[in-house]
Amino acid sequence: MAISVLVGIQWGDEGKGKIIDVLTESAELVVRFQGGNNAGHTVEIGDKKFVLHLIPSGIFRDGALCVIGNGVVVDPIVLVGEIKNLRSQGFDIIPEKLQISTRTHLIMPYHREMDAMREAALSDSDKIGTTKRGIGPAYADKAYRTGIRALEMNDLPRFEKSFRKQLEIYNAIFKANSMEELDADTEWAKLKEVAEFLAPFVKDTVLTVNRAAKAGKKILFEGAQGMWLDVDYGTYPFVTSSNTTTGGACTGSGLSPKYIEEVVGVMKAYTTRVGEGPFPTELECEMGEAIRKAGNEFGATTGRPRRCGWFDAVSSGYSCMINGVDELAITKVDVLDGLEEVKICVAYEVDGRKVYDMPSDTEDIKKAVPVYESMPGWKESTCDCRSFEELPVNAQKYLRRIADLVDARIGIVSVGPNRDQTFYVDSRN
Ligand code: GDP
Ligand code: IMO
Ligand code: MG
Repeated sequence: MAISVLVGIQWGDEGKGKIIDVLTESAELVVRFQGGNNAGHTVEIGDKKFVLHLIPSGIFRDGALCVIGNGVVVDPIVLVGEIKNLRSQGFDIIPEKLQISTRTHLIMPYHREMDAMREAALSDSDKIGTTKRGIGPAYADKAYRTGIRALEMNDLPRFEKSFRKQLEIYNAIFKANSMEELDADTEWAKLKEVAEFLAPFVKDTVLTVNRAAKAGKKILFEGAQGMWLDVDYGTYPFVTSSNTTTGGACTGSGLSPKYIEEVVGVMKAYTTRVGEGPFPTELECEMGEAIRKAGNEFGATTGRPRRCGWFDAVSSGYSCMINGVDELAITKVDVLDGLEEVKICVAYEVDGRKVYDMPSDTEDIKKAVPVYESMPGWKESTCDCRSFEELPVNAQKYLRRIADLVDARIGIVSVGPNRDQTFYVDSRN
């Protein structure tokens, strides 16, 4: 690995945090480039479990500097909470270990309120099921050119002025919608405290990232969410508000695309989705429930039950194409242990037509009826397998088949939540 981008291939929660933690054994820089604390990345080391929302998952490796890039939206109150929590567990989170881009947009308290207000106003069929962390409104302000950037935390009078000005605009909207207004003094007191705490972490990370690239350092870009939540390519409007795909690594960090050498796509051996929106292979039956139970499929950020279904080669193949995936990291293979048969969606039927590529129109995706191919399952547990050859033959065949269908090679297989329950395949052996 030299300069790699790791992205989620499905609807998020593919196990990116775990794979990042494994890969950062040799990384010198780990960069988050989009999303915010809507993300929940789980890392399990020994008997300890950590869930990270804003801090890159490389933070547990001594040799890695972590960067929160300009494409991320940062809730400063949440970030301070996360730093303090890790410090209380013995991790030294200092400006030498973590940098926040000067250009990163901040999630303000009024963004969180606005997120909740907008969701509440939507009809059941239109609800996005957001994490209510203020992500959409913060990105909207960025595009609207009224956002507040991290660099303002270095100049408190300027930050206070910007905050009060924006809050006035938002309070007028809240008032018009019969919602409680936010008290400027109370909110500012909290923000001032976190701004003072975070100011030393704020750096021009475009320089950090580019200097590291020029010096030939190993850089890993940590994607959040997944391809089908991408604001351009996902199941719009049931998406998040950032580019979750490979291209986002460049716009969200300031590194030129010419430096990117490798793309790792993380996907589960089946599919999950949390929040609203179409999900063609969803299993609203006992099998879906069984997968949820075996995979412990509950959101790492909101605790909501994740919707579960069979592997979808139509959406995942399209995703690997857009992301330019070189290597797949296939996770949660162990969750399928013990099944009589496993199914793979190889096409959709839309209005009586067979479709092999993901439709652009979400209305068509809503109508898609999956066409399945069935394969025999495997009875043995895969949890203790540490090489491809140790996997049950049927599991090997299943993984080869899904990799074939999405047209990418298998680089990593994960058979449990722990760091150790991972192995490299082929060239990485
Ligand atoms: P992320 O958002 O992509 O980082 O994924 P999450 O952390 O939200 O969700 C993935 C969940 O699956 C976490 O609870 C992980 O600990 C767990 N996990 C990751 N890989 C595996 C695996 O191979 N097998 C099992 N059983 N659990 C895994
Ligand atoms: P990680 O990085 C899964 C989903 C929400 C909702 C939609 C929009 O852990 O994979 P938002 O709050 O972003 O405006 O919500 O996106 N969503 C995720 N689903 N994993 C995530 O992150 C997600 N981040 C957002 O459930 O459907
Ligand atoms: Mg997650």
